[in-house]
Amino acid sequence: LHVVHMTAEMAPIAKVGGLGDVVTGLARACLLRGHTVEVMLPFYECLPKDQLEGLQHDCEFDCPKGRVTDGQMRTEGLRTLAFRAKIDGVPVVLLRPDWGAGNLFRGSRIYGGSYNELEAYLYFSRACLEYLSASGRKPDIIHVHEWQLSAVPMLYWDSFHAAGLSKARVMLTIHNMDNSGECRQEEFAHTGLPGELFASVDKALDERTVGHNPERLCLMKGGIVYSNAVTTVSPTYAREALDGGAAGWLRSTLARPEVRAKFQGVLNGIDTALWDPAVDHFLPAPYSAADPSGKALCKRYLQKGLGLEVDACKPVVACVTRLVPQKGIHLIRHAVYRTLELGGQFVLLGSGHADGDFRRMASEEFRGSPATALLVMYSEAAAHLIYAAADVVLVPSLFEPCGLTQLIALRYGALPVVRATGGLADTVHDVAKGGEDANGYTFTGVDEGSLNSALDRALTAFREQPQWWADLTQRNMLVDCSWERAAGAYVDIYNRLAAL
Ligand code: ADP
Ligand code: GLC
Repeated sequence: LHVVHMTAEMAPIAKVGGLGDVVTGLARACLLRGHTVEVMLPFYECLPKDQLEGLQHDCEFDCPKGRVTDGQMRTEGLRTLAFRAKIDGVPVVLLRPDWGAGNLFRGSRIYGGSYNELEAYLYFSRACLEYLSASGRKPDIIHVHEWQLSAVPMLYWDSFHAAGLSKARVMLTIHNMDNSGECRQEEFAHTGLPGELFASVDKALDERTVGHNPERLCLMKGGIVYSNAVTTVSPTYAREALDGGAAGWLRSTLARPEVRAKFQGVLNGIDTALWDPAVDHFLPAPYSAADPSGKALCKRYLQKGLGLEVDACKPVVACVTRLVPQKGIHLIRHAVYRTLELGGQFVLLGSGHADGDFRRMASEEFRGSPATALLVMYSEAAAHLIYAAADVVLVPSLFEPCGLTQLIALRYGALPVVRATGGLADTVHDVAKGGEDANGYTFTGVDEGSLNSALDRALTAFREQPQWWADLTQRNMLVDCSWERAAGAYVDIYNRLAAL
């Protein structure tokens, strides 16, 4: 099979959260199975060029891009540059406008630059298809991710299917329904096609998706309707989307029988080449299930480095997360205090727009604390070291489509304490229930007492049952949560679509 991913993120160098991890992990697993895989990514100005293996200029073309003024749409070609390279061994095609002609994807960060993101990703969606078509590629599968690329399925079936790319089938993976991509009708013109095209999808479905503002369209809804298959990233989140409130404005779209028939949850894996404590170059000492002794060294190294009391007997509770409401900010905050009450140490590594409380706590209350380190920043290196040093990894999300940090925790010999929602419920099974798959601690409520009911048990077990703890963490490290396993389900879908 020839699979082309189109995405806004790719780990490790163009990553904000789990989306980047998933694209790299899945792409690599499919490459290893012998398929041809390419990833199309915006050439963000902030990408570290020295980590783009074999970077070379590929071609230039004019990408049609429209603008509506005074009710009239005008279209012109935006000069676009294409480059090829590899990221961690995975072939990538990088696209960006000629910056003399526009500033899209410029700035020091992936998101939140000085340009309009909606405009940038609508342009990028069109540019990807223009590139594929002009380069004569004949992919079997175009696999698009998230709201940013959700215009692609519609553009493809409207304008590219007949024009040389006819073999391709399109699939959409939804990593998070919380942001489904709102778009005004005239903004859709950034794709070079009129917004009326998109509006007709809404009309055909006979209801508006974004209920509070009938002037707006929903890109993800278009992506769902026009894709041959739609996946989300865990079976429980898929169920919550179909039958609970997780889908938000998309609920009525997902409820349609023809959509239900092509929608399923496929559990993410983790990239076990990037996440392997036996060869992780960010760690001061390697370790593995066969020889876990290096983990104690990693813990000592972190405690020392962060100015915490160096003490192997104190449980280190860690949380590595985007700081956004989804992640249960009030519960993370509460867990800091609860961990201290229980004699543990708390380490937070987080960044995001809801970071205010933690910045204040770090600079005032916990300044110089021997038991708390609140790092309000993004750091790949710090993340690796923290997982390796942690005894417990906390994930108290209000909702979680899949979640990767609990899987990384298992692989790095830390026990997860999670709220049982979405993919967290699929991957963490409470030790109180017993059974083969018991691997951590879960709670269900969104209140502090509920979190305590799991965290308290974890910290008590750490203190009172060290041998049981060591055995369980060692067993967890051997459980297969790799993409090699998870990619099989995607390849089955690709094969099914290719046979259509
Ligand atoms: P989400 O995609 O919703 O952020 P996931 O659990 O799927 O949640 O993935 C989060 C990924 O981002 C993990 O690889 C985690 O280690 C990483 N991550 C999150 N916050 C940070 C941070 N502040 N610094 C470094 N890595 C982070
Ligand atoms: C999203 C979700 C997260 C998921 C990740 C990768 O960012 O919030 O739960 O693990 O995508 O699919």
